[in-house]
Amino acid sequence: MALTQEALKQVLHPRPHRFYPSAGSTNDLANTWLKEGAPAGSVVIADEQKEGRGRKGRVWYTPPHVALAVSIILKPPQQFLHRISLLGAVAVAELCQHAGAKGVGIKWPNDVQIHGRKVSGILPEVVWDGETLLGVVLGIGVNVRADFGGTELAHIATSLEPAVGQHLKRTTLIHYLLQRIDYWSQFIGDVLLFNTWKSKLNTLGKAIRLEYNGQIIEGVAVDVDQNGALAIRTTNNEVISVLAGDIALTETQ
Ligand code: BTN
Repeated sequence: MALTQEALKQVLHPRPHRFYPSAGSTNDLANTWLKEGAPAGSVVIADEQKEGRGRKGRVWYTPPHVALAVSIILKPPQQFLHRISLLGAVAVAELCQHAGAKGVGIKWPNDVQIHGRKVSGILPEVVWDGETLLGVVLGIGVNVRADFGGTELAHIATSLEPAVGQHLKRTTLIHYLLQRIDYWSQFIGDVLLFNTWKSKLNTLGKAIRLEYNGQIIEGVAVDVDQNGALAIRTTNNEVISVLAGDIALTETQ
């Protein structure tokens, strides 16, 4: 079923929101709205994205009726900008668990997985006006009933609905997701957010490979720090810390 403005209004009122049956990228629309003065907590939602964006310039697939494409405008203190990615991952992991999924974990830094397959992608984008911080657009995509069968994503991506084995209403999912984002926004600088994120990570102790500064690093993910950086013990027995990147597991989970 298509998402509608009427159904969304029931769960979003009085939050400022903009809904598009079909959009380019909700992150782009939220970026423009933030520059026009949207308050913290405002949200842009689309039923379909035709130019959804993922990390590292990748395309993010949002066909109509089967996913969540949500961009929330947040205005955290500047010293906690790096925590927005963690906040998004925790809120989505909680959403999946609340919906009834088992085997939910966060692959460092912010990919929410169900039994090791990606169910959600998170794209936080900081928006500046010159030197002034305007806020952050926290873009969240969740596969609700996207079908990856027969595509090259089949072994790495999954959807929430088949994982829980029952129909899920996207308006209800959005309502819960935004509640969790509001909740964790109060704790953006608190160790509680960091500890919750760390407890949900499924990466620590795993053998990984990562491209970092143009080099391939192999080692074991040993820890994370309060900024979200991952400490890797390399095969040369050095410990290096990386703040961002795409890791691949090098042994079966
Ligand atoms: C990733 O590469 O894992 C991040 C994907 C982020 C996708 C979401 S969908 C809503 C928002 N709008 C976008 O264009 N991207 C984000």
